[in-house]
Amino acid sequence: MSQLNVTTLNQKFAIPGQLEFTEDESGLIIARIANKQALSTISLQGAHVMTFEPTGEKPVIWLSPAAKLARGKSIRGGVPICWPWFGAHATDSTFPGHGFARTVPWQVVASEALSNGSTRITFELPQSSIPAAQWPHACRVRNIVTVGKEMIVELVTENTGQAMFEIGEALHTYFAISDVDKIRITGLEGCAYLDKVGDCQRRTQAGAITITAEVDRIYLDTDSDCLIDDSGHKRSIRIAKRGSRSTVVWNPWIEKAAKMGDFGSDTGYRCMVCVESANAAENVVKVAAGAAHSLHVTYSIEKAM
Ligand code: BG6
Repeated sequence: MSQLNVTTLNQKFAIPGQLEFTEDESGLIIARIANKQALSTISLQGAHVMTFEPTGEKPVIWLSPAAKLARGKSIRGGVPICWPWFGAHATDSTFPGHGFARTVPWQVVASEALSNGSTRITFELPQSSIPAAQWPHACRVRNIVTVGKEMIVELVTENTGQAMFEIGEALHTYFAISDVDKIRITGLEGCAYLDKVGDCQRRTQAGAITITAEVDRIYLDTDSDCLIDDSGHKRSIRIAKRGSRSTVVWNPWIEKAAKMGDFGSDTGYRCMVCVESANAAENVVKVAAGAAHSLHVTYSIEKAM
C-alpha cells in the first residue's frame, strides 16, 4: 500500500465522533482520537503517540512545547518507538541512535471502535520505510495503540524471513509530572542497572528512584510494573508491561536539556521523566524465523497515594 493522503485516510479509517486524520502545517499527518474516555494525537511519522489525556485528568504524556514536527526528525516527547536497536547501533555509529523507526512514515492499516468505548488504531511499518542497508531482514512490524481510560501500546515484530534476527527496542515514553522534585519511581528496587551517566558501571537500585541530577539508566532483567508517584499532581502513573525485560529511566537535567534545544523553557526538564519499557543491552530479543515478539505496555492513572 502506498502512502495515503488525509482525504483517503479519513474515507478508509475515520470513526465518526472518535477518530479523524488531519495534516499538520509541517505536512505530517496526525491521527486525532477524541472519545468519551480520552484525547490522544498520534503522528503517522514514527507511529508516534504525541499526547494522551484521559477525560478529567491532566496529560499523562509530556510533549515538549518546543517539539519540532518535521519530516525525518524525531519528536521530543510523546512515545517515540526505538526499533530495531536501542541507543547507539552495536557496530555502525553512522546509523541513527535508537534505530530508524521513529523518524520514518508508517501506514494506518486498521481502526476500530471497541465495545468498552476505547478506540484502537493499528500502524504498520511499510517496506519502503526500512533502509535495507541498516536492516536487511524480512519482517512485519505493527504498533497497535488503544486509547481509552488507559492507553495500551503494543509493538509487534514478526520475523517473516528464513533466519533468526535480534532486536533492541523501547517505547521511550515521556511522562508529564508536576515537578521533578515531587516524584518518586517505584518498582525497580533491588534491580541491577547500567548507569549511562559516567562509564556505564553496573549498580544496584536501593529503594525508590528520586531525581536530583542527570539520570540515564538501563535496568536489566525486570518485568515489574513501575509507578511514578507524583505528590504534586496527587496521582500515580502505572506502567504495566509484558514482553519487556529492561526499563530505562532518563532525565537529562539542566545542561543536557539545554544542549538539546527542543525542551522548551530552561525548566522543561523538570516537567518530564522517561520510563521506557525496553529490551536493551543484554536483554535484546532473538526473534526466530516465523515467530513474533510483542512488547505490550498499559499506561493508567491511580489516585490514592
Ligand atoms: C534515552 C537514552 O533512552 O534517550 C539517553 O538512555 C538519550 O542516553 C535519550 O539521551 C534521548 O535520546 P534522543 O536520541 O531522543 O535524544
